[in-house]
Amino acid sequence: MSEKLTREKANEILHKHVKGENYIVHSYAVEAIMKGLAKRLAPDEVEYWGICGLLHDLDEETCPWRTDLSTHGPTSAKILKDEGYDDPVMANAIMAHNPVCGKNPETTLEYALIAADPMSGFVKAVAQIYPDKKLASVKHKSVAKRFNESRFAAGANRQYLMEIEKTGISWDEFIDISLESLLEIADVLGL
Ligand SMILES: [Fe+2]
Repeated sequence: MSEKLTREKANEILHKHVKGENYIVHSYAVEAIMKGLAKRLAPDEVEYWGICGLLHDLDEETCPWRTDLSTHGPTSAKILKDEGYDDPVMANAIMAHNPVCGKNPETTLEYALIAADPMSGFVKAVAQIYPDKKLASVKHKSVAKRFNESRFAAGANRQYLMEIEKTGISWDEFIDISLESLLEIADVLGL
């Protein structure tokens, strides 16, 4: 059994394998949302859920996802294993955020992660509409109403966002949790 992965070590692994500032910032955003979701769904595992979010795109710069999307996820699991962290729960959650790799989400943690990933970009896109582009200005209502505009933040997979409902959290509650969680690290996100 491998030793427990601390948040500090996870952040070190992230920076070792991911250099792009945008990816790092995205990783922090998904971590924040996952922690917010865990407070509601798995209060004893807030840090662990956060780490799953932090590392979900660990292979972004090392796997050939642009030409073979099925490598995204399993490659992160392999990196973690090679780093000495063989954790099937975390590996499955990371793989299930990209079902194209062959792993579908099945657990609360897995549903949360596949939804938290596009949510970070979706909220960011809504913030960009505001004159000050600040997260603090973003209203629940404007996030909610943009969902059905398929051309808005088209990269944010609506089907994946909706997976949140399989955790028992509604879309409305998900918006509140996400806004609140991202606001806590607004300076890190530059929003
Ligand atoms: Fe992601």
